[in-house]
Amino acid sequence: YQAQLDLSDIEKGTYPYYMLKEIDEQPAVMRRLVQEYRQADGEIHIDSALVSELAASDRVYIVACGTSSHAGWAAKRFFEELTQIPVEIHLSSEFGYNLPLISKKPFFIYLSQSGETADSRQVLVKTNELDYPALTITNVAGSTLSREADHTLLLYAGPEIAVASTKAYTAQIAVMALLATAVGRTKGLAKATNFPVFQELGIVASAMESIISEKSHFSDLTAEYLTATRNAFYIGRGNDYYVSMEAALKLKEISYIQAEGFAAGELKHGTIALIEEGTPVIGIITDEVTGSHTRGNLKEVESRGAKTLVIASEALAKVGDQILLPQVHPYLTSLLAVLPTQLLAYYATLQRGYDVDKPRNLAKSVTVE
Ligand code: AGP
Repeated sequence: YQAQLDLSDIEKGTYPYYMLKEIDEQPAVMRRLVQEYRQADGEIHIDSALVSELAASDRVYIVACGTSSHAGWAAKRFFEELTQIPVEIHLSSEFGYNLPLISKKPFFIYLSQSGETADSRQVLVKTNELDYPALTITNVAGSTLSREADHTLLLYAGPEIAVASTKAYTAQIAVMALLATAVGRTKGLAKATNFPVFQELGIVASAMESIISEKSHFSDLTAEYLTATRNAFYIGRGNDYYVSMEAALKLKEISYIQAEGFAAGELKHGTIALIEEGTPVIGIITDEVTGSHTRGNLKEVESRGAKTLVIASEALAKVGDQILLPQVHPYLTSLLAVLPTQLLAYYATLQRGYDVDKPRNLAKSVTVE
């Protein structure tokens, strides 16, 4: 089945919407990235000039918009652990006005599926003028952001047609994991040397397939929790918070449900006042350190009338959790946790009668400021 998925195919085929096809393509994209980035000797095939220039930097600035900025957040912790280089994520439209204090040896990574986002290109023009090194990670070879950066890494995800980005998000995180591993290894760091990134991405691909095979379960959960609501919350801590940001954007931009991705621990500092009888709150729990705290936050919102739904790693699951995630490497849990949220957004949109691929007032690539 996976072999039949031709990532270069821009036809919907038997799919009702491109978004569903692109959600389904994510396991194949993981395997394609292993194929494209693994050398014959098993090492990571990334340009050595890029790897050494990044390894020599003292701070990484990830610059992106929307879903791509969320991919940057999802990569932050493993990138820092594998490379020992601090990482900041900045929204292009906020960063362009006045570059904050920049470190002595910065390295800029532009994440952009289209490679044409004007907000991001504006920043690249500025960092080029300042002669800072820049890498663009993109799905489109020869795109503006690719041509104007010093280095490019491709997502090999195949054309992403639906306005709501799915496979580009997971591909960006995977490429960041490959890059971070290569940089850490060149610095002789044990965590990178001992991280079998290709094997772990293969495990992620299989885990993704098992989630994608449960579509009717997601359709039922959506009908029960989301379709009739006007607002919803995704909550989590650490990486689970970062995935919550992406989960909320998916729901907002295609089903038009007012959703927030919120730091679970922050709710009590005001926002919990929004919780009413029946407000859907979806908790994401993939980290054993923070998972029990997030469960406490779910109890707090339940006591205020919220209808809670839990997405949890199998090893952390409790009776009653509605969505279980197969175990993958802790660095890569975002690649899995996001999948149910993509499907929940897809089914909420269908059940609310909106156009999944062409949401109102949105363009696939925002080439204006
Ligand atoms: C994603 O679902 C959105 N359509 C949007 O946020 C998108 O991620 C953003 O406009 C950035 O686009 P880019 O990755 O092509 O730069």
